[in-house]
Amino acid sequence: MKTLTEPAPPPAPTGSAEVVLTLEHIAKSFGDNHVLQDFSLNLHRGENVVVLGKSGSGKSVLVKCIIGLLKADSGRITVLGQDVGTLGHEAMDQLRAKLGFLFQSNALYDSMTVRENLLFPLRRQWLADRRGQEKEMVQQALEDVGLGDTAEKMPAELSGGQRKRIALARTLILRPEIILYDEPTTGLDPITAREISGLIREVQQKYQTAAFVISHDMDSVRLVADRVALLADGRCYAQGTYAELAKHEDPRVHAFFI
Ligand SMILES: Nc1ncnc2c1ncn2[C@@H]1O[C@H](COP(=O)(O)OP(=O)(O)O)[C@@H](O)[C@H]1O
Ligand SMILES: [Mg+2]
Repeated sequence: MKTLTEPAPPPAPTGSAEVVLTLEHIAKSFGDNHVLQDFSLNLHRGENVVVLGKSGSGKSVLVKCIIGLLKADSGRITVLGQDVGTLGHEAMDQLRAKLGFLFQSNALYDSMTVRENLLFPLRRQWLADRRGQEKEMVQQALEDVGLGDTAEKMPAELSGGQRKRIALARTLILRPEIILYDEPTTGLDPITAREISGLIREVQQKYQTAAFVISHDMDSVRLVADRVALLADGRCYAQGTYAELAKHEDPRVHAFFI
């Protein structure tokens, strides 16, 4: 029961309360390996939420359930108002077009130039209202990631950080409403990692995109997160701002911040 003396809930970090992604009681097992057990979390429009967890805790499994690469055993995932569990192939494809993913591996095509890599999602998605503007769209996406002069290069000519930027540009070109980042800074040197974290913030501010970021790089978590959710024991074990979790009394939470 609410009382008048109870403090008001904190406002959504972005000033908008619209929820774009809801995870309710998600469970996913592989045989006896109960990876996700009862995971619940939501994401607001324009908000960056970072899911933090140890290696093997189920972070990538969670992302794969959201984009439909894996099917949760139980629970409900709602993306932009649509219950992912009830969608057929075609509806799921249309929904995926509003989501951007940045995989840990970048998943660039090595035999294609940067321009061809960026054109690829445009060929797959029917962007009827933007036909004929492909060249400008590629250029804009490259400039958004600070690599405006790389269109004719091959991925192998670029550094790890540049390839990560190109993979982000390929995601941005479809103007997603939500971007899912799986460990965007893993494998990068600390300075490049910090640049990528800065870029994730820039994208959020420029396009008001919501981001669901998986990470265990605490420097990146601090720079990127409006809100942090800790995945442990298959659940959302704790959540709050970086500062709130950093002074959390539970040693399992605190352990990430030392
Ligand atoms: N397709 C799969 N088949 C069987 N086990 C899997 C599969 N995908 C992930 N797992 C298991 O789920 C657990 C969580 O994996 P993952 O989500 O990749 O962890 P992380 O938090 O490091 O991203 C691991 O024990 C992994 O072995
Ligand atoms: Mg992973």
